Amino acid sequence: MTLDEVRRRVEAARAEWAQASVEVRDLAALEALRVRFLGRKGVLTRLFDGLRALPPAERAEAGKLLNVLKAEITAALQARKGELAARALAEQAAAERYDFTLPGRWRPLGHLHPLTQVRREIEEVFLRLGFDVATGPEVETDYYNFEALAIPADHPARDDWDSFYIDDTRLLRTHTSPVQIRVMKSRKPPVRIICPGRCYRRDNPDATHSPVFHQVELLWVEQGLTMAHLKWVIGEFVRAFFGPGYEMRISADFFPFTEPSAQVHIRKRPGKWLEIMGAGMVDPAVLSEVGYDPEEVTGFAFGLGVERMAMLRYGVDDIRLFYQNDLRFLSQF
Ligand code: PHE
Repeated sequence: MTLDEVRRRVEAARAEWAQASVEVRDLAALEALRVRFLGRKGVLTRLFDGLRALPPAERAEAGKLLNVLKAEITAALQARKGELAARALAEQAAAERYDFTLPGRWRPLGHLHPLTQVRREIEEVFLRLGFDVATGPEVETDYYNFEALAIPADHPARDDWDSFYIDDTRLLRTHTSPVQIRVMKSRKPPVRIICPGRCYRRDNPDATHSPVFHQVELLWVEQGLTMAHLKWVIGEFVRAFFGPGYEMRISADFFPFTEPSAQVHIRKRPGKWLEIMGAGMVDPAVLSEVGYDPEEVTGFAFGLGVERMAMLRYGVDDIRLFYQNDLRFLSQF
């Protein structure tokens, strides 16, 4: 080994470095290059090892040449590393950039079914007036659904409540009046309740009929109640639920369990009269049946359809819309 040879090898190594270093595109390739030149078995390390073969007088000179190259390569590695790291960071930042001016993603939020909303609203009106909510079974016995309400088996009024029978004595309740019987049988007067719930009738579905529907019935039994109290309670309800400006009309009707019986219409002038409920004074026979003394207490009741209230409130003209689960319809409420 001679000094000239070392010079040639250093030049060759410098040329090799120059060519290899321009091809580096990322940090991993740069690290591989560092190992290739400065690693334990790297190009420069081998050259340094070769110095031992030189005559001592030439070693210092050759060592200087190598050290210069090593310094060049080290500095170049350092500079390139900085460049590549900065570029990698810029690329990452570009890929992750957030545009805070973009509109947010819309996550639809569900809400209560319009019938549930209306039912709760009706309940709230009467809860404010001091009524309790009472519920009962949807599968009822013939006794509670009809018999105790003065509708015996052969009574023609049963035609008004076409029923789904389960067996000879049980049926799907056709109204929530049986809940009133159950409550009266289990409590002493005064009784002030509303009975919301699902009811069933064997009606063919059309714009105003559904075999499943919802009622809220009200019952107030106490000493000294008259039709005037009934009229007051209904008036309070109309004002609270429909708003001011409605007038109401009570006319005669027939229900086996009330005497007298009435139907209630409301209108906002000059609109037409709309029927909103059936009502009446509880028939003394019904009071006796549940063990109350009709000489001592009187009562009144009414029943309204939740669907009908919702249809009037929102101008819906087909009851079936409430059961089709079409979000285009439901999302409007
Ligand atoms: N239960 C009756 C019905 O479903 C409504 C009603 C209730 C009428 C209370 C009068 C009194 O038709």
